[in-house]
Amino acid sequence: MKTSARFTVVLTRPCLVGALGVIALVVGPASANKDPVTPQQLKAYEDAFMEQVRIGDLLFHGDAALAKKMNVVLTTTGMACAMCHPFASDTHPQAFPKYQVSMNKFATLRDMINWCIEKPNQGEKIDSDSDAMKALEAYIYWSNTGSVLVPGKY
Ligand code: HEC
Repeated sequence: MKTSARFTVVLTRPCLVGALGVIALVVGPASANKDPVTPQQLKAYEDAFMEQVRIGDLLFHGDAALAKKMNVVLTTTGMACAMCHPFASDTHPQAFPKYQVSMNKFATLRDMINWCIEKPNQGEKIDSDSDAMKALEAYIYWSNTGSVLVPGKY
């Protein structure tokens, strides 16, 4: 009697787990985003990203007219980001956030972009949530596509 009761418990448990699994599959993450993304929507999302990459590319290469239009002063030395970081080299977005000795703090990529604007470029720090910051970030990430994520690596 005792043995068969234990046997039943052992048998029903996996069944319950299985049933919950099926329910999770049916109702689960799918309900969070019911509508499948259409190819047209996907194209629109990609276009939105690439538009930011292009703006960031121009800012990174020192487009003064665009910087003025966006109300940012990224440099006063005549140096553009791309002169020290051609093709966004050595920007290492995949390593952030990390402890940054030059700033003596745990820093994000946006903190580091601002550090370069203020220090080597002698420009004016930009708002971390500004359009210019997002565009610079988009360009830097896009340029480093395929890099392995190693957050915290110094
Ligand atoms: C005069 C050369 C120079 C210019 C111009 C310059 N940087 Fe830098 N940048 C550096 C140096 C040097 C470092 C390394 C600083 C350190 O590690 O403390 C660096 C580091 C960085 C990093 C972090 C890299 C890492 O692995 O920690 C980012 C991101 C970055 N720069 C973005 C920019 C952006 C965006 C601009 C333009 C607004 C810019 N830089 C302009 C010299 C420059």
